[in-house]
Amino acid sequence: MNINFDTFGLKNPYTRFDKTLLTKNYNHIVNKEYWYYENTLPVFERLIKEYKPKTIIEVGSYLGYSAVNMGRICKENNLDTKILCIDTWLGSHEHWTCKINDYLPLYDYFENGISSMYDRFIQIVLSHDLDNNIIPLPNTSYNMYLILKELNITGDLIFVDGEHSAKGVYEDVSNYYQLLNPGGALFGDDFTWPSVKEGCEKFSNETGLEVEDIGVTHFRIKK
Ligand SMILES: C[S@@+](CC[C@H](N)C(=O)[O-])C[C@H]1O[C@@H](n2cnc3c(N)ncnc32)[C@H](O)[C@@H]1O
Repeated sequence: MNINFDTFGLKNPYTRFDKTLLTKNYNHIVNKEYWYYENTLPVFERLIKEYKPKTIIEVGSYLGYSAVNMGRICKENNLDTKILCIDTWLGSHEHWTCKINDYLPLYDYFENGISSMYDRFIQIVLSHDLDNNIIPLPNTSYNMYLILKELNITGDLIFVDGEHSAKGVYEDVSNYYQLLNPGGALFGDDFTWPSVKEGCEKFSNETGLEVEDIGVTHFRIKK
């Protein structure tokens, strides 16, 4: 199946911006968050080389760091991968409440009382020439799970990095594991968080499936 915006009845959001006017950088991400994120690149690289995914489903995209890097790594490995990015672009619970997260760029994108993170995501993707590969799907992870299921859309790699509560992780992992192709893998970030571990353990206890710690801060569940 050739997945594109029409598949979801959406208009292409990239046409609203002029690519030539965008600079190729992450602005705030480079300044404020890069130190943290760069550790995760080898994990993406390893999994993409191992699974050679035609379709990646990402739950939780924020400002596009993981999506853009997965897209870049796919291209470098001559893979014409479609990356479906699911996010409300409204931020997670911890972004709104955790004081130590004051450095997070979320706040920069609520300046008019509502999030403009989605537009920033679109610009970041466009500036990295990944607009043919990355399809943003602005909805809750649960709604999008139902939609993908109805459309019979599955992934070879599924990256779960959305809501980080135990309940949220358990639900995302349980739902999206159903959309994983045989031979593929669901992986996720922040396995060092007790809540993320708890959600994964609940899924593992119920299904008997192994949740592997694959290093840095990531877990993997194979199918
Ligand atoms: C940790 S951030 C994702 C980071 C991103 N993967 C990266 O590496 O740059 C979590 C994201 O999940 C989104 N999110 C939280 N709960 C969600 C839900 N129920 N449905 C969709 N997105 C959600 C938030 O808006 C936030 O952007």
